[in-house]
Amino acid sequence: MEISIGCDHAGFDLKEKVKRLLEETSHEVSDEGAFSEESVDYPDFAARVARAVSEGTVEKGILICGTGIGMSIVANKFEGVRAALCHNLETAQMSRLHNDSNVLALGSRVLEPEVALNIVREWLQTDFDGGRHQRRLDKIKGLENKD
Ligand code: RB5
Repeated sequence: MEISIGCDHAGFDLKEKVKRLLEETSHEVSDEGAFSEESVDYPDFAARVARAVSEGTVEKGILICGTGIGMSIVANKFEGVRAALCHNLETAQMSRLHNDSNVLALGSRVLEPEVALNIVREWLQTDFDGGRHQRRLDKIKGLENKD
């Protein structure tokens, strides 16, 4: 699977760890930066990843900032993006089963690195449940692009 990843300065260290995990598990990674701990603005990086998911260039995206909050706010502005801010295995699993989340947002300052990596593993290996949940996603889709 091709996955786009991005972070700000706060998420840089964890993004590198996530990138290694993805490469070790044979995913194709498109790294949109940031590439150091120099202070940057998270919307710039969230937009790159979310745009790639929205346009279908990649299947999924992973975004990391200090809390994951800013990244998820930005990513959810893009059409077709369902970004989920996950704190544990249960939220990661449910965000796939019920919400078919296509962007995972993580907070590097609120998660232990090993927990974050386990969240990534869980998120990647869980499939969407469909059924009644698809009807709800269709309603979300219906709310997009309304003036
Ligand atoms: C950067 O200090 C911090 O605001 C950012 O990483 C993120 O937590 C925003 O939501």
